[in-house]
Amino acid sequence: MMQAGEVLVTLPTLTYNPAGSMPILDERSLEFLSHSPDQTRRIGVRLGELLEGGHLICLAGDLGSGKTTLAQGIARGWGSLDPVTSPTFVLIHQYRRADSQFLYHFDAFRVGGVGEAQDLGLGELFEDGGPLMIEWPERIAGMLPEAHLWISLRWLDESRRGLEFHARGAEYERLLRAFRKAAFGG
Ligand SMILES: Nc1ncnc2c1ncn2[C@@H]1O[C@H](COP(=O)(O)OP(=O)(O)O)[C@@H](O)[C@H]1O
Ligand SMILES: [Mg+2]
Repeated sequence: MMQAGEVLVTLPTLTYNPAGSMPILDERSLEFLSHSPDQTRRIGVRLGELLEGGHLICLAGDLGSGKTTLAQGIARGWGSLDPVTSPTFVLIHQYRRADSQFLYHFDAFRVGGVGEAQDLGLGELFEDGGPLMIEWPERIAGMLPEAHLWISLRWLDESRRGLEFHARGAEYERLLRAFRKAAFGG
């Protein structure tokens, strides 16, 4: 469970919306405000604990919005033995777990497009069976499987980020419900 007071906004049971203009979201969506990198990581841990083989997590948002920070939490929650860093020259990271499973992390920031992503072997990663996180997924939108969890991160100020989760497909609606329950108890 998150500590009391950490999460100000969860929808659809909206009680307090400091951003004011955030849209009211539906059953397939969830949004909240993170106040620190650690809080973003803890949210990631809750999601990572629920990740299963084949899950695809898309992390969208500008540079510095917190995609890699969230990915660090996800990998930790999943049980990674390896730390998540983001050396800019590596596009595909793989993290090991004690049971020899792999979690993959693809950074499409420097990828020219779908063709280049194919050449790098992203298509095989979809088939591999290990869960996969993708930063800058919009750059390779044409090759993304329809079913996925889409997370948009937004820079609000130096320490605050807005996070929006959107489930696409029944499996991810289930995942989002489980995540909502694990992270917020509701
Ligand atoms: N609430 C927050 N959530 C995530 N990162 C934050 C937050 N507040 C400040 N930061 C800082 O913002 C930066 C996010 O960097 P990073 O996760 O690498 O972003 P991206 O991968 O989207 O480019 C880090 O320096 C992190 O410490
Ligand atoms: Mg990053």
